[in-house]
Amino acid sequence: MITIRPAKKLDKDEILSFCINTFSWGDYINRVWDYWYAEKNGQLFVVESDGKKKIAMSHVAICPEGKVVWLEGIRVHPDHRRSYIATMLLTKMLEFGRRKGAREASAIVDATNFASQSMMEKNGFRVVSRWMYYNALSTPRDQESNARIANVDDIDDIWQYLQQSKIYCLSGKRYVKSWRWYMFDRRALLNFVKEERVIVTSLPIDGIAIINKHGYWDRTNILQIVYLDIASVSSLHHLVSFIMNLYLDGKFDSLQLVCYNSKQVTSFIDKFVIKEEEQFLLYNKQFTS
Ligand SMILES: CC(C)(COP(=O)(O)OP(=O)(O)OC[C@H]1O[C@@H](n2cnc3c(N)ncnc32)[C@H](O)[C@@H]1OP(=O)(O)O)[C@@H](O)C(=O)NCCC(=O)NCCS
Repeated sequence: MITIRPAKKLDKDEILSFCINTFSWGDYINRVWDYWYAEKNGQLFVVESDGKKKIAMSHVAICPEGKVVWLEGIRVHPDHRRSYIATMLLTKMLEFGRRKGAREASAIVDATNFASQSMMEKNGFRVVSRWMYYNALSTPRDQESNARIANVDDIDDIWQYLQQSKIYCLSGKRYVKSWRWYMFDRRALLNFVKEERVIVTSLPIDGIAIINKHGYWDRTNILQIVYLDIASVSSLHHLVSFIMNLYLDGKFDSLQLVCYNSKQVTSFIDKFVIKEEEQFLLYNKQFTS
């Protein structure tokens, strides 16, 4: 019999022993286990077989606005795949979300991970948007920029811009935080502005970027662009030049960009020296009743 239960402290080593070479680049579970284990608004699950062997795990978290439950870190021991263990974990995580009042579930899958894509689709999830991740080593400096940090007086203009933006709509109205995609609503915008994390081009606003200066998990000296929305290549130029100066002046370890996968952005990115590049699919499932 298979048992799915909340993780215990002592599960960690046995689980991590099969979460090492999951992908061509390794795995990240060792970096997040303690953080997920301690997280208040979530649940780390472990799957145990008859003989009490630990054979799978996953993590679920309720997003800050409470409406969406985020699914992540599904790992099934290679010897136990194709036995519907991941499917059972998905059911368990969706149950958790429902109990906590969520109305939909989301997850991100690498565009080359066909097993996982097929698993999500078989379980009723659909792709709502496509995202690119870039880790940039450098970009051309010293270009003129009319971009600036937004203030509270800009909120109405930014919100109006977003309502008409194709990118905002196509990106599923999400931004990224610690590899979770959250709803980018007016309340989130207000908080970003208060935290001085919104960069806009000069009036009239025709481009915005949301930045994060504190990285994620155990990597805190990373500058990230966690949402990018531009009406023209020129506005992209201005935003990127401004952020590049922040990056160089702030002595960050790296500059990461996570953005909706649009041609306008990706063609411009060719000017950067890119260390890593990956494409992701954002999946979503609405709960019925
Ligand atoms: C992806 C993964 C979680 C699937 O776990 P699993 O327990 O084998 O999946 P299930 O048995 O529940 O599969 C359910 C369905 O998903 C699809 N699927 C699962 N693995 C597949 C594979 N290797 N190739 C194609 N389709 C696959 C199938 O449609 C399958 O149904 P079927 O067997 O009736 O055809 C597992 O392969 C794994 O741990 N991979 C490495 C980590 C990973 O990629 N995690 C997900 C990150 S987003």
